[in-house]
Amino acid sequence: MFSKYILLLFLAFAIKKSFCESFCHNTKKLDSECASYCYEACKPLLQMAPECYRKDAEIAKLKDQVAELRKQIAIQEAKDSLCISQRSVVSEIKALFDKCSMPDKMKDTTPKLKAETILKETKVTELTQFKSKFNESISYPDNCEQSTGIKTIQVAGILRPFQVFCDNITNDFPWIVMQRRVGRTVDFNNYWYNYANGFGDINGSYFIGLEKVFRLTYTQPYELYIHLEAFDGTIGHARYNHFLISRETGQYRLSQLGNFTGDVYDAMSDYLNAKFFTFNNDSRDRCATKMSSAWWYKSCDISSNLNGRYSDFEINNAFGIWWKNFSGGRTLKSVKMLIRPAH
Ligand SMILES: *[C@@H]1O[C@H](CO)[C@@H](O)[C@H](O)[C@H]1NC(C)=O
Ligand SMILES: *[C@@H]1O[C@H](CO)[C@@H](O)[C@H](O)[C@H]1NC(C)=O
Ligand SMILES: *[C@@H]1O[C@H](CO)[C@@H](O)[C@H](O)[C@H]1NC(C)=O
Ligand SMILES: *[C@@H]1O[C@H](CO)[C@@H](O)[C@H](O)[C@H]1NC(C)=O
Ligand SMILES: *[C@@H]1O[C@H](CO)[C@@H](O)[C@H](O)[C@H]1NC(C)=O
Ligand SMILES: *[C@@H]1O[C@H](CO)[C@@H](O)[C@H](O)[C@H]1NC(C)=O
Repeated sequence: MFSKYILLLFLAFAIKKSFCESFCHNTKKLDSECASYCYEACKPLLQMAPECYRKDAEIAKLKDQVAELRKQIAIQEAKDSLCISQRSVVSEIKALFDKCSMPDKMKDTTPKLKAETILKETKVTELTQFKSKFNESISYPDNCEQSTGIKTIQVAGILRPFQVFCDNITNDFPWIVMQRRVGRTVDFNNYWYNYANGFGDINGSYFIGLEKVFRLTYTQPYELYIHLEAFDGTIGHARYNHFLISRETGQYRLSQLGNFTGDVYDAMSDYLNAKFFTFNNDSRDRCATKMSSAWWYKSCDISSNLNGRYSDFEINNAFGIWWKNFSGGRTLKSVKMLIRPAH
């Protein structure tokens, strides 16, 4: 019984061994065959590997390039939109200039076009004026500030800066000389245009110009100081604390004087609300022509006449430089009208 088992066991072992030997041999053969096959199959793939790494690197590089190109496209698009808006501005300006430089005949073809042309021309002028105003407003003050003598000042509404004489007559703060008479070299029986824009010699007898006076007194409250000198050396002064004149279309009317102080008769208040007249732009009763002067005449009843004829010696009448109740009704040796911002 026991030997039967042994035999069986031996048999089983022997069978297993022979089976195993053939099996293992076959497996090994398969393995080697397979390995060589696999190698053959994989070889090109293995050979491709470095190539693939290279391609990966190239793709990464290309991706970077694409990103860079996208960036440049975005920049270009931004530039393009800027160009488009610039082009539209340029074409608007061009259209503007085309309209402005159209032949006069064409301008009149339709009233609408004409109005539009006028509007655009006005805009161009305004732009130029604004540009120069902007340029100049940085450079000059609008009053004498702390200096005396000739000074360049500038005020809104007057295109160019202009020279004035600054005078520290009250020994506190300099004044702008608006009018000065010191001799007969300058003729004060002058045209409206010259009274509006100014005339004379800044170091001697001169008139600043009513347009400047209007612009200055209009932008902020101004005071007026009048200095009178008789031939015997007597000095007098009249002072008004709120001096304002109207614009040219209102004929530079004496709009305000404020309160009077001084040591002479108040010979200006009689002219409050009077318009300014010159011989070529005279009142109905022709006072400027009769007086050979220019002033805020109300009637030919004279209280003051500081632009009258200059005389080297005193004359007993109002046709000269004259101030009522000063120097015994005789003409004066010199006179100054000064203005400055009210403090
Ligand atoms: C503004 O100033 C510049 C430089 O000072 C000058 O070249 C230009 O002509 C001025 N423009 C006007 C409108 O005055
Ligand atoms: C004006 O006069 C006063 C008094 O004499 C003096 O203190 C001041 O410095 C003067 N101002 C100028 C700008 O000359
Ligand atoms: C005014 O006088 C000053 C100093 O005497 C001189 O420098 C200036 O050139 C004169 N100006 C005019 C316009 O005569
Ligand atoms: C007369 O005065 C007006 C303003 O009231 C002005 O527009 C006109 O140009 C002046 N006339 C002359 C001839 O100067
Ligand atoms: C002028 O004086 C009056 C009375 O004292 C005063 O009410 C008025 O405000 C003064 N006007 C000016 C411009 O100073
Ligand atoms: C001005 O002078 C006249 C005479 O010409 C005289 O009647 C009047 O009282 C004087 N007025 C003043 C304020 O001095």
